[in-house]
Parts: sequence; structure tokens; C-alpha cells
Amino acid sequence: MFYFGVDYYPEQWPEERWSEDAHLMAEAGINVVRLAEFAWSFLEPHPGCFDFDWLDRAISTLHQHGIQVILGTPTASAPPWVMAMLPDAYKVNEHGYRLTYGNRCEFCPTHAGYRERGRMITRAMADHYADHPAVIGWQIDNELNGRCYCPNCQSAFQNWLRIRYGTLEKLNSDWGTAFWSHVYTEWSQIPVPVETGGVPNPGLDLDFRRFMSDTFACFQQEQVDILRQVCPKHFITHNFMGFGFDQINYYDLAKPLDFVSWDNYPRTGWNLVKEADYAYLALGHDTTRGFKGKPFWVMEEQSGSGGWQTVGMNPRPGEMRLWTYQAIAHGADAIVYFRWRTARYGTEQFWHGVLYQHGQPGRRYDELKTIGSELKRAGSQFPGSENRNQVAMIHSYDTRWAFQGQRNHADFNYSALFASYYKALHCRNIGVDIVSPGADLSRYRLVIAPALYILPPDAADNLRSFVQQGGMLIATARTGVKDESNAVVNLFLPGLLADVCGVEVDEYDVQPADMTVPLELSLPGRETQTSQSRLWFDVLRRTTSQTVATYQREYFSGSPAITLNRFGQGQSIYVGTLGDDTLHDTLLDWALKSVGIHAVLAAPSGVEVIERWQGNQRLLFLLNHTSETKEAPITQPCMDLLSGTIVNEIVIMPPFGVFVLQEQE
Ligand code: GLA
Repeated sequence: MFYFGVDYYPEQWPEERWSEDAHLMAEAGINVVRLAEFAWSFLEPHPGCFDFDWLDRAISTLHQHGIQVILGTPTASAPPWVMAMLPDAYKVNEHGYRLTYGNRCEFCPTHAGYRERGRMITRAMADHYADHPAVIGWQIDNELNGRCYCPNCQSAFQNWLRIRYGTLEKLNSDWGTAFWSHVYTEWSQIPVPVETGGVPNPGLDLDFRRFMSDTFACFQQEQVDILRQVCPKHFITHNFMGFGFDQINYYDLAKPLDFVSWDNYPRTGWNLVKEADYAYLALGHDTTRGFKGKPFWVMEEQSGSGGWQTVGMNPRPGEMRLWTYQAIAHGADAIVYFRWRTARYGTEQFWHGVLYQHGQPGRRYDELKTIGSELKRAGSQFPGSENRNQVAMIHSYDTRWAFQGQRNHADFNYSALFASYYKALHCRNIGVDIVSPGADLSRYRLVIAPALYILPPDAADNLRSFVQQGGMLIATARTGVKDESNAVVNLFLPGLLADVCGVEVDEYDVQPADMTVPLELSLPGRETQTSQSRLWFDVLRRTTSQTVATYQREYFSGSPAITLNRFGQGQSIYVGTLGDDTLHDTLLDWALKSVGIHAVLAAPSGVEVIERWQGNQRLLFLLNHTSETKEAPITQPCMDLLSGTIVNEIVIMPPFGVFVLQEQE
């Protein structure tokens, strides 16, 4: 069965309404709800006094309507009494200010007292619900995030460093504290990189980001341990925030979970756009699937205008349905919409759900119902099916964090560079896996590693053997610049990949974003064409590679900007500039052809085509992301699983229309 759900907050509504809610949900095909992740005040109104009666009644009302339950541990937002007992449990922010009560996620993640309280409420909930017939799983906390710079975190950081480095001699040497005479003689001297008006040592800065990420993973692990022990029948997940969030290493956070979930908000109050950036949404899904290399859940899918202080655009008729099937196409095994009914009170009065505050069904409810009835018919075909892609992109949190500390160029943005390469693939309807630097690459033909700035030896070896064994690698400027301690390597760049790329960076230069340098591009088998380089300019010296692009201006005019190298059985392209969308388009077009990867289907622009495989059976998702009718040609008769009809030759797609095609024998 396919889990189709909503996020529900019974504690925010009169109890007399609950059965009406459950009835409406069941009518729409809802079979699961997430509850209680913000209900700590009601679950433990006073220290150690637990009250599950109201939640039992809410769950049984839902269960009577055939609805199952995921429970959130409520530690993302503590009742006032918790924080009053633990006044030093508030986070200290990067400016050195201690937060006060009134928001959420304001707790310090290393605070022993807060963690103890978190374990207590988790254990009490686990004991109470371990054998409840309606409860199927748990969400730990909610969107773990933030960084704390309090004295407690400082000493935890010092202990973390002691474990990582063993001796101060090693730490001083790896961080290069000889610079500015920062040689530490006691662990207790090591600061946290709170804003001081200066720029911290890059080694310290990167390690602090790693430490905070590890701290949240430990915070999560404590709750996972309790739930695994007390509720062995239940699954455990956490709601991640996709590609856009970069404070926690999500590959680590994903490890102890049964599967990853994420929260997908295509249209928000701070980003009013005519059409949602559907390629970026796809990147969020693909990144999330990569955290465990398997299907995931969407735990919060937008169902109304998003916004806290300003109101976002209402999802257009059909968009909720479109976003649902886009998620499924990219590997979602379940969809849960945020939220059932829009709040009357509190910070999120304008973050709309399926129902408005008045609680009466309307257009968005009708759309939910349509999706519900389609999934009743077709939903069982999706869970557990696979996305089998031949292209991977290497995604590194260490690299993101190192760039957060030092941007390299005021207009350089790693995420934007990454998204630009991703979008060039996506608009060609080429499926992409987003993987960590250590991932098994043997199933891919093309791997793109944009600006893999922190390059540990094992990641370099992984890419080296991928190319040696016949793969094609695209690497860019700012690859292999730093070692794991965020020190610049004493090698010709791209450092540990210089041999694989057959190139050495002789010099590099930067220019303002509005100044481009023309490139003459001669890709093998193509006519010479011109393109533009921008922001960053590696002046290359070829060792074993051939030139495919040369700069046409500046003192480095005539020097190689892009090279192609044969290495082992494979090839590497080194792009010595950060380029623009057009350059990425041209390069990928050529690279895809030369490794023999083709689009699944020749679809018109604005139509996304994704394959998902159930054994040998291919499901073809056709998603029209535009407000216009589109036509897509197909090569053989197919059954549209959503409508149960057969389509032939041309699929006519209404605005925001969706087809899920199964090829007929
Ligand atoms: C996040 C949170 C939800 C809610 C929504 C909308 O995704 O997990 O609790 O705050 O955003 O703001």
C-alpha cells in the first residue's frame, strides 16, 4: 500500500472537531497522519507528569477511520517549564547572544539537562505506544538545525578535537597554527568561531562545522537508541530539508534511520515566482534519495500558500498533484501533506494547509481527494521501485562548509554551481543520482564533481578508479584545493586529481561577475564554437591532456581553459573556469553523447520525464510543469496508471498534467 498522509495537530483544535477531521481525511483517501512533534506541553504538562489520554483519544478517532500514525518526538519545541528549569540551555548564536524563549529550536544541542529531558519524554512516549495498533513509526525531533557557540559547546568542541587529533601537536600542525602565532598549549584555549570581526583559522572553522553536525547526529542517536530498544516493530525517520540546507552532514544523519524523509515547499512567502523552479525541486528529491541510496518519504509536502509574515502564492490547480507525482517519480515511497488545517494562532497563521482556518473542504481538499483516489488504484506499484541512473554528481558537505568559511570569490556559490550542472542534465531528462565523495561509482558512466574543494585521498582514489575503469569524469576549477584540515595542498592543482585530469594549474585569476572572457571551444567531433568563462580562470598547463577550450582575452589569451584527458580506460574533462549555464549545457551535451546516455523520451521543454523501475517493469512519469498544454510523443502503447486508460503515440498533457505510463507488452 502507498502511504498518503497529512500532518495533523489535534492539540490545536477542539476535541469535538476531531471525528469530522478524521472523516474528511478518510474520504480523501488519507491513511496515515503525523502527530505530536510540537505537543510536548500537552504530553508532559509538568516535570515528569505525562498525559497521553488526549493523544490516545485522537489516535483512536483516526484509527476508527482506518488511519495509522507516525509520532514525532517533541524535542524541537520545549514547554516554558523545561527552559525555565534549564536557563543555560538556550543556544548562544554566532554573535555571542544567548536566545530567549518564544521561538522553537532554541535549545543548545550539547546541553546535558536538555538531552536528559529529551530522552525522558521519548522513553515515556515509546513505553506508552510500543504496542499501539495504530502506531507504525517515529519521526525524531523536527528539522534538526542551528549552531550553538555557548561555553558548554566550546568544551564539547575541545573534547571532540581531542578525540579527532589525539595530541595538540597534531592539531597545531594540521591547522597550521604557526600562522599568527596561534599555537595552542592547552585544549581549553581553543575557541569557538563566534563572530569577532575577524576570519577564523580555516581548520578550526571547518572542524567546528563538523563538530556541530556530529552533535546533532548524537542528539538524534540518543532518541533512536531508545526507540530501537522499546519499539522494535516501528520504523524511525527524521524530516530533512533537502539540498538547500547545509548545516548538517545528512549522509551521517541518515545512517541510523530506516529511511530519510524531507519537507518539500515549492512556493513560499519569500519567493513569489510565476512558475515553481521544478528542476530545483527535482534536485531536492534526488539529493534526498542519495542520503541512503534508497527511496524516501516526503513528510511535509506543500498543500497551501506558504509563509509566516507574508503570504505565498497559492498552489495552482493541479500543482499539488504535480508535486506529488514528481516526488514519487524521484523515489518517494509516501507523501504526507503539511498541514491538514491552517492554524488560527501562532507564528504560522499564514502557512496554509489543505483546509483554511474555517475548516470547510474547498478546492485544495478536492485535489487531495483526486490524488487519494488515484493512489488507491495505482499506489501499490510505487513503493520499493528504483531509480536506475547512469549519471552521478558528487556532493560534499565538507566542501560546502569550507566554502561557507571562505567563498573564494564574492560571487561564487557552490550550491548554484552544483545546481547549474544538475539543471543542464535535468532539462535533458537525464536521471541523476546525487552521491557522497566515497560512494560506489561503479554503476555510473558519467560523474560530475563540481568544485570538489576538500579532497581527501580516499575520495580522490575513488574518482581515480572510476576513470581508470572506463568512466567519464567532469571536474572543475577549485577541485582538490584543500586537504581534510582545510589547508591548501602543496601540489599543483587540481592536487590529487592532477594525474587523472592530465593537467596542472599554472596560475589562476578572478574577475568581477559582469566581466566575462570569451572561450574558443573545440570539442572533439564538433565544430569550433565560442562560449564564455567567468568568475574564475585557471590558466592550465597540459601534461597528458588535450585542449578543448582556450581563453580569448586577458594576459592568458591562448592558454587552455578546458582539457580532455584519457586515463586508464576512461576520460576526464577539466573545466578550469566556473562558467555559466550555456557552457555547462554545451559540455554536458557533448559528454552525454560521447558516453552514450540519451534522454528517456524526446519531450517538449517544461515536461519532465523520469523512469522508476519495479523489477523489469519500467514506469515512465511525464510531468507537465507549465501552465500550457503540451504534447509528448511515445514509442509504444502505454497504460496510464492514474486514469487506467491506454495512450498511443502522442500524450496530450493539460497544464500541470501528469501521466504515469506502463509500457504494454
Ligand atoms: C517546516 C517545519 C514545519 C513548519 C513548516 C512551515 O518544514 O517542519 O513545522 O514550520 O516548515 O513553516
